Amino acid sequence: MKVLGKTSNAERAKKHLFASQATYYAKPLTLVDGQGTRVRDDEGNEYLDAFAGIATTTLGYGDNEVAEAVAEQAKKLTHVSTLYLTDELLDYVEKIADVAPEGMTKTFVTNSGSEANETAAVIARTYKKSADFLALEHAYHGRTLYTVALAGQSQWRNFGPDMPHVAFVPNPYCYRCPLNLTYPSCEIACAKAAQRVIETATNGAPAAMIAETIAGVGGIIAPPLEYFKVLQETLEPFGTLLIADEVQAGWGRLGDGMFGINSTYGVVPDIITSAKGAASGLPLGLVITRPELADIFKGPHINTFGGNPLSTRAARVTIEVIEKKDLIANAKRQGQNMLAGLRDLQKRYPIMGEVRGRGLMIGVELVKDSKTKAYATEEAGRFLELMREKGILVGRGGRFGNVIRIQPALVFDDHDTAEFLKAFSEVIATF
Ligand SMILES: Cc1ncc(COP(=O)(O)O)c(C=O)c1O
Repeated sequence: MKVLGKTSNAERAKKHLFASQATYYAKPLTLVDGQGTRVRDDEGNEYLDAFAGIATTTLGYGDNEVAEAVAEQAKKLTHVSTLYLTDELLDYVEKIADVAPEGMTKTFVTNSGSEANETAAVIARTYKKSADFLALEHAYHGRTLYTVALAGQSQWRNFGPDMPHVAFVPNPYCYRCPLNLTYPSCEIACAKAAQRVIETATNGAPAAMIAETIAGVGGIIAPPLEYFKVLQETLEPFGTLLIADEVQAGWGRLGDGMFGINSTYGVVPDIITSAKGAASGLPLGLVITRPELADIFKGPHINTFGGNPLSTRAARVTIEVIEKKDLIANAKRQGQNMLAGLRDLQKRYPIMGEVRGRGLMIGVELVKDSKTKAYATEEAGRFLELMREKGILVGRGGRFGNVIRIQPALVFDDHDTAEFLKAFSEVIATF
């Protein structure tokens, strides 16, 4: 139990949590309460949260409908295991079939994004009878053995040798094009490069390529709109499946539809994985695919907590509230206003190397110099601290930690966006 005034939470954490569990800020923030887009810390300070627990509290904190559904459910049935069915699970997977791209009618429910990606990898490997995999440079897909092997950033590839074989495809990172080309004259050469990677760095028939629709941890790297179409055409001759990791980009965040891969990028992948915002903060991940692939996943499998009635009910209510409150349209509008405001600031402040993203998945890449594009890593750390002092929470990403991430709840409103931009402009002016 916490003894007030004696031991700081930083000290308590150091003593009993794994050291690898890094927190933001020189003085870690302890949150005690939240409502809508606001959270409060243990000293009574209030913050406008523009990071939403890493793009996860889709409906904001304390949403009434989720809270009531969870409270009611908790009183009757929180857990049954996958050995039994519940209406909550079945209602949820039926709802997913309604909102998923056509033909993707089957869902496997997990507890996290890592577990969802791990499951997708096993499905692809079994289906294709191939152990080779493709991923994108700068990718992040989770913290299990396989998903760490899929990470395209060295700081997240921290499990040592003997990881599953993954070959990496250049990322559509136009601001720092890995092929030294310029969009659109490049004709999406980075997607076409998957052919060369398959032919030179794999067994010639990799099971699948996994790609985040927009790289989150990698620094909000948003591919050009035609990217996934070109990528899918490149993979097709090799029979390589496309897995869209919508752990961050799903649930309307990109502002066009429930899943960004089909609604924003116009592509139906073979498998969609997701988690984070699915249940607006309750733990739930999922793998959505066509029956042909779903049924290749040879059983039996149990998943003790996966698909539990508490999380699946919260997840179904989350989708219903997104629809009822038209939050996808709100994500688009707030995102456009946010991008416009940030791009205005960018004209004045060269430290803002690039402002990018779609909907409410926005990144600002900080650079020491707009010509050399030297990574402004220390500045990004300072930026986070100064925003905290102004009462605003933002995230951080990128291979060198120099990208400010803005991924708030989809209920972010006009007032929140204006307040955010005002604080951002005051802080950026100090650099
Ligand atoms: C794109 C992406 N995929 C997968 C994961 C892993 O999800 P989880 O932390 O729920 O295991 C994350 C987590 O940040 C993610 O951003």
